[in-house]
Amino acid sequence: MADKFPENFLWGASTAAHQAEGNQRNNWSRWESEIAEQLAESAKDRLEDVVPDWELIKDQASKSNNYISGIAADHYRRYEEDFDIMERLNFNAYRFSVEWSRIEPEPGRYDQEALHHYRRMVLALKRRGIEPILCLHHFTDPIWLEESDGWYNPAVVEYFAGFAAKVAEYMGRDVRFYITDNEPGTYLLMRYLGGGIWPKWPMMEANMLHGYRYLRNVIKSHRAAYRRIKEVNPEAQVGMAHGVVNFSLERRDPFTLAAKAIFEYLPVGYLLNRLKNCTDLIGVNYYINLRICSKLRPLRQWAREGVEGAPKNDLGWSIYPEGIYHVTQHLKKYDLPMIVTENGLPDTRDRYRAEFIEEHLHWLYKSIEDGADIRGYLHWSLLDNYEWSEGFWPQFGLVAVDRNTMERKVRPSAYIYRDLIERYTK
Ligand code: BGC
Repeated sequence: MADKFPENFLWGASTAAHQAEGNQRNNWSRWESEIAEQLAESAKDRLEDVVPDWELIKDQASKSNNYISGIAADHYRRYEEDFDIMERLNFNAYRFSVEWSRIEPEPGRYDQEALHHYRRMVLALKRRGIEPILCLHHFTDPIWLEESDGWYNPAVVEYFAGFAAKVAEYMGRDVRFYITDNEPGTYLLMRYLGGGIWPKWPMMEANMLHGYRYLRNVIKSHRAAYRRIKEVNPEAQVGMAHGVVNFSLERRDPFTLAAKAIFEYLPVGYLLNRLKNCTDLIGVNYYINLRICSKLRPLRQWAREGVEGAPKNDLGWSIYPEGIYHVTQHLKKYDLPMIVTENGLPDTRDRYRAEFIEEHLHWLYKSIEDGADIRGYLHWSLLDNYEWSEGFWPQFGLVAVDRNTMERKVRPSAYIYRDLIERYTK
């Protein structure tokens, strides 16, 4: 495996503000305390038959404090320590998100201290030779936005553009990569189309009209933010991160093939087409494999998670590294550079993570050889963190975080990732 990844390839990890920082005051933190008890009580029914090792997680998953983000991984205060770890792991890139509700606690009022905080983070990364990849929106919203109908109110477009402009202004030329929005398709599904990946989501509803308006506003918000960022930094590379699923077929009849094409198009292909002239890169978040089977059934049952014979991660999702090859090959047709902005697994005992990374990099390399323009790989996640309405029990971190002391412990797989980076670059 003496092959080299392209020069200047971005190597590192990802986090998101709500999941890692701690002490949030947004729509999620408000909702968590309302729902925690219910999630704890339903854990057994929800998870026992789905996860491979219920015994391992049952204590944590059955306690209500598991579902409250609280101080999360305390990354807001401990970022210097976390950046030191990244430096030791050979990382040259870090993707994180800024928390809109901290920066703009009331519409039009910007909190200087929060803006300075994120600027300090960016400078702390740069001092260590780590490229910041800044994401503006990762699932959470300010409460004031939620209370004015959130993302299906057209007013969100101006709000978001103003917020993006303010962040870009503070970052100046020090941030070269922006992700405007993380996985709008997931937000659409969880918030407006009745759910899917996680058990619940704040204000979850099944409302096609709201979903349609959401999508329209996300497109407009991205366009507006793209323009405002470029005004400050014309060299910035701006894109969205998409949750990209690898689809396989259980049958090869025309209906199943058509279903695959539709699933691949909606919403990722659709968004990429609509944003053609204002997208410089595609962020690829790859986790999930779905098998499509179009036997006459309700639409929701057309796709099933899993790959025959593949091992399962702690959440019960199949581990299928070859999928990263297929999704990046599929995205080639949009003719844009890609960065893998997330890829990882919950694996408390660190049994699969090292091989998972090695195999995904192997397939990613092959995809580059076969013409995909891939510029980076950011593992999810740097730290064990708050996995939305599953709470803290799924442990995605290259670095384990002790929930009582917040002590960081680098997992053995992280050192293997470090060595792989060296092998692939030197
Ligand atoms: C999200 C992350 C999440 C990860 C693992 C992605 O879809 O962007 O926030 O933690 O999946 O479920």
